[in-house]
Amino acid sequence: MCGIVGYTGASQAAPFLLDGLKTLEYRGYDSAGIEVLGGDGRLRGVKCAGRVSSLAERCAKADLRSTCGIAHTRWATHGAPNDRNAHPHLDCTGRVAIVHNGIIENFSELKDELVAAGHSFASDTDSEVIAHLIEDAMAGDAAGDILVALRLACARLEGSWAVVAMSADDPGRIACARKGSPLVLASTDGGAYAASDITALAGVTSRVIQLDNGQFASLDADGSVRVFTETGDEVSSPDFLDIDWDASAATLGGYPDFMAKEISEQPEAIERLLKGRLTDNGIELDELEISDEEIAAIDRIYVVACGTSYHVGLITRTLIESWAKIPVVVEPASEFNYEDVLVTDHTLCVIITQSGETADTLASARKMHEAGARVFAITNVLGSTAARESDGVLYIQAGPEVSVCSTKAYTAQMVAAVLLTLYLAHRNGSMATGEVSRRYRELTKLPDLIRTVLDRSWQDKAAAHEFEHAGSALFLGRGVNSTTAAEGALKLKEVSYLHAEAYPAGEMKHGPIALLEPGFPVVTIVPNDRVREKTISNIQEVIARGATCIAVATDGDEDVASLVERVLWIPPTPEYFVPIVAIVHLQMLARYVALARGCDVDKPRNLAKSVTVE
Ligand code: G6P
Repeated sequence: MCGIVGYTGASQAAPFLLDGLKTLEYRGYDSAGIEVLGGDGRLRGVKCAGRVSSLAERCAKADLRSTCGIAHTRWATHGAPNDRNAHPHLDCTGRVAIVHNGIIENFSELKDELVAAGHSFASDTDSEVIAHLIEDAMAGDAAGDILVALRLACARLEGSWAVVAMSADDPGRIACARKGSPLVLASTDGGAYAASDITALAGVTSRVIQLDNGQFASLDADGSVRVFTETGDEVSSPDFLDIDWDASAATLGGYPDFMAKEISEQPEAIERLLKGRLTDNGIELDELEISDEEIAAIDRIYVVACGTSYHVGLITRTLIESWAKIPVVVEPASEFNYEDVLVTDHTLCVIITQSGETADTLASARKMHEAGARVFAITNVLGSTAARESDGVLYIQAGPEVSVCSTKAYTAQMVAAVLLTLYLAHRNGSMATGEVSRRYRELTKLPDLIRTVLDRSWQDKAAAHEFEHAGSALFLGRGVNSTTAAEGALKLKEVSYLHAEAYPAGEMKHGPIALLEPGFPVVTIVPNDRVREKTISNIQEVIARGATCIAVATDGDEDVASLVERVLWIPPTPEYFVPIVAIVHLQMLARYVALARGCDVDKPRNLAKSVTVE
């Protein structure tokens, strides 16, 4: 949800800023812009609606020679995604520039006040008020100090922000502020850097400084970074984080798109996550720091997440209730935040978030903390806000996920949820050690099962033809695979813009069946499980209406093959783990349908990978 970068140092700023924006483009791509401090002591910049590549073309024709600058890639909240609303935003004098990620909730009152005081606005954004507040502070109490001016400006704001600001009157210096939206910094011999996340800094440093909520920072041309509290006191030992991600992990590496790359990385991601997790003592999850007595006392678990991660939550509920025998409530975070919760001293909340920065999910975690619950996070991003604010973190170690549509994080999060379930079940006495080992051994077979599915991508490519003339599609499944259907439908609509709806297969006859007509594609997940016969009956109902049925079925299931137009075959897989294997077909299917429709699979319209606004 908006990516921001800043640099001051000895090198040219524009190349880093543009590279940084390209890396952060998954956070938003409605418009982009860059502002630098020219040798003549004036700010100059380029901004435009559209992708970072359009900005880069324009920058190539502009004089952006400078060693200090800031840049932004936008996901619009306030104001249409056009040139004038693109960041950076300037004050009235053109001597202050800011980039902002977040929402200024009181911008309307502030704007009225600033306009009444004679300021003129050039955009419809909430963010622009920050530039004008800094303008007043620079001329007043801040006496030309950009950091103090930013601090005074932020004191007037309500909402959430990561702001990076510069001024022609405090040359070579960049000021940063954080409340709610992420921001990381780096101090190197070559200069000082700021960015929304560590992927943009992976090429310049292996150690970043994490700004905490309410903190400010000053970046200087000698490469130094100083962190300050809200009241202006310097923080002597800011939080450092060592990055162990290889910078090349965030590049295409020969794949046509990140979605293809990340789908294919799933076996290795799961292998990494499982490595060393089984000991003589059962599953090893010491990082959660919870005693057996505390586990045995857990009376209820809330699982809260958004989007694809919410689908992981749905399956987590089934697993925990079946194996650990603990009641689970699972809710999308955006709903959960407005509901009453029943929390005792023994209530656990598990948040699931790839980015660790989804605003609704973080708000849920904070709400549960305040209510007295222990909060665990299942997340991918090292040092993310979710990780930092939780009582225990289980990292899925999937490596950077760049494509907006989540694939490898989904399956890795699911494996993490299985590990957590086995851990809880074993420690609270619901599952014997032998059974835990057996389930773990089944888990270790998943990477090869997924490799088998990956080798069958031709089946998905062929099945994509069934969607050529479709205006909508239906996904059906039962039990845990009603969630596989939901995730399959989500993948399809996210990347191909084809409407898709998921339904528990048995519920189809209570409504969606009215949609069916010849040629209407229906994807049914029908593995060899306890509800196979029932699901086959639903396939019969689909076929009887002349719709086109595509089935995800287990190798050798000729009954299913004889009924349907296309089969996406999965190798025999333990029932509870079918969602982790079957979804790989549906990810590839969505990608092929999207490519046939000419869509950009990595950057679907209107979406952002990290949704940092509620
Ligand atoms: C956005 C992304 C989804 C993701 C969801 C939750 O909507 O486009 O792919 O599932 O956010 O993100 P999180 O990082 O919390 O898992």
